[in-house]
Amino acid sequence: MSFKRYTIAALFVLGSTVPALSVAADVEAGEARAAVCAACHGKNGIAQIPGYPNLAGQNEQYLVSALKAYKNKQRSGGNATIMQSQATGLSEEDIANLAAFYASLPAGGK
Ligand code: HEC
Repeated sequence: MSFKRYTIAALFVLGSTVPALSVAADVEAGEARAAVCAACHGKNGIAQIPGYPNLAGQNEQYLVSALKAYKNKQRSGGNATIMQSQATGLSEEDIANLAAFYASLPAGGK
């Protein structure tokens, strides 16, 4: 009977993770959303402007944290105001998709 209980518990755990998987970041949606970012960060995630950061191959979770920090103005000073205005209009989903897109690009560009 404990087997049954564990089986039910396991099914419950699996069932509760499915919604999380179905909202996984979408690299293609991120690429589409990144059109505006390319002006400064390059189409391939390698910045064209000296002093602006490359994003290609960056750690995905770091990109999410950075974008959220610009959006809620926790990141300020230096050139951060440029990014604060860029991040203001991004939804949680946009941020996840953009992070997945840039993380998927080869770090050295192509
Ligand atoms: C007008 C130019 C410009 C545009 C457009 C722009 N960025 Fe930026 N971005 C910058 C600059 C400048 C910085 C460095 C800011 C600082 O000093 O904190 C930056 C920083 C970042 C960082 C942090 C990088 C790091 O290593 O910490 C991320 C992530 C980022 N941008 C993502 C984006 C995304 C995604 C978009 C499109 C929605 C975008 N940027 C659009 C200029 C731009």
